Amino acid sequence: MKRLIIKGGNLLNGTVKISGAKNSIVALLPASMLTRGKCVIHNVPDISDVHILIDTMRFLGSKVEFNNGTITIDNSNIVNKKIDAEYATKLRASYYFMGSLLGKYHHAEIAYPGGCIIGSRPIDIHLSSFRKLGANIQEKDGHYIMDTDEIVGNEIFFDFPSVGATINVMLTAVLGKGTTKIINAAREPEIKNVADFLISMGANIEGAGSGIITINGVSELHDGEITVIPDRIEAGTYIILGALLGEDFTVEGIVEEHLYALLLKLKDAGVTYKIDGNKIHINKCDNLKGVNVKTGVYPGFPTDLGQPMSTFLTQCFGQSVFEETIYENRLRHIPHLNHMGANINSLSSKAVIIGPSELVGKKVKATDLRAGAAMLVAGMIASGTTTIENIEHILRGYENIVDKLNNVGADITYIDD
Ligand code: EPU
Repeated sequence: MKRLIIKGGNLLNGTVKISGAKNSIVALLPASMLTRGKCVIHNVPDISDVHILIDTMRFLGSKVEFNNGTITIDNSNIVNKKIDAEYATKLRASYYFMGSLLGKYHHAEIAYPGGCIIGSRPIDIHLSSFRKLGANIQEKDGHYIMDTDEIVGNEIFFDFPSVGATINVMLTAVLGKGTTKIINAAREPEIKNVADFLISMGANIEGAGSGIITINGVSELHDGEITVIPDRIEAGTYIILGALLGEDFTVEGIVEEHLYALLLKLKDAGVTYKIDGNKIHINKCDNLKGVNVKTGVYPGFPTDLGQPMSTFLTQCFGQSVFEETIYENRLRHIPHLNHMGANINSLSSKAVIIGPSELVGKKVKATDLRAGAAMLVAGMIASGTTTIENIEHILRGYENIVDKLNNVGADITYIDD
């Protein structure tokens, strides 16, 4: 079992460098399948989701090399094959092969996607969008089977600005006939990163990063190259740690604009920091005061930072109300925080947090990726020793987290037995 043993209370001194964004690279890799050419992707985080996607691409005949943060891809020999659960259910982002294979081959067969258990996570917006672009979709034996004679551009309105569906429509429509418009598209920075990669391959996409995206289909894509944007969720997690434990602590490689919601909430709570280009200097702050945090789509407060932020709120004076609005089930870490001494009452997707609480090291579980980050923050501020089990979830999204933190003063041991 993979576990982390954390001796809490150590202050953090020095610099942590931020890696490339998980939620970009998990789309960039399937996007590369749209060309028969070669692709180069820089600043790739070495996380387990990336390795699962590389395995899937190799299964489809792609030649992939991953060295020192750069992935090179040669797609000259890829073959469109059925992607079974063995690959697809290991992560959520396997659904991006639906868009890229459907767009390129007009046929895709893939098992249901997996991912963290944080709610029902339907993909109805993806499916209805594929249909609007001409696909016929059947479900058989736990697989989607999608076919069409051709992809034809259309105007698609999203009831909800889904990140995955926005990217999947781009992947499907870039090689289609005519123009596709997404109205109420998601605006997360990772979407522009994926669009920029497709544009480097010859795609014609306008408006990525805004609520309306226009894709004019082209007949072919060529070689492409991109640098993965910094991971704003990883950065946010370290910034939260800095606000609780920093002592001349710096997080390097941030994009301030991507972090406004978190930074301004921290400021409201009494945190002080200094931003200098792509670096933020942040130190432990006393007399933190409770704030209300409600997650939302970008540029709202990111759902992926909600759980670590809830740990932060346990250290603030007074009452904070934390509300999750994207997923039904993203408060499963709360009982673990209470087990460590937090005072949180939660009902459905809302939690009322009374602080500050002195957290005490205990044995807890990472119930999902960001819940794991929340428990890691808790373990680092707690007195005594915290053991976090099920940390496979954490390794899916945080590159080299143990070394990164130990290098700035943490005392974390990784055990795999
Ligand atoms: N939704 C639907 N139908 C759809 C699509 C979405 O109802 O067809 C609803 C669901 O409730 C779903 C929610 O909208 O759970 C959010 O879905 P969205 O499509 O916006 O997100 P996603 O593509 O499933 C990505 C990230 C998530 C991140 C969200 C929001 C990947 C692989 N995952 O998920 O990352 O929370 O965007 O920013 O890119 C994480 O990193 O911890 C994580 C969960």
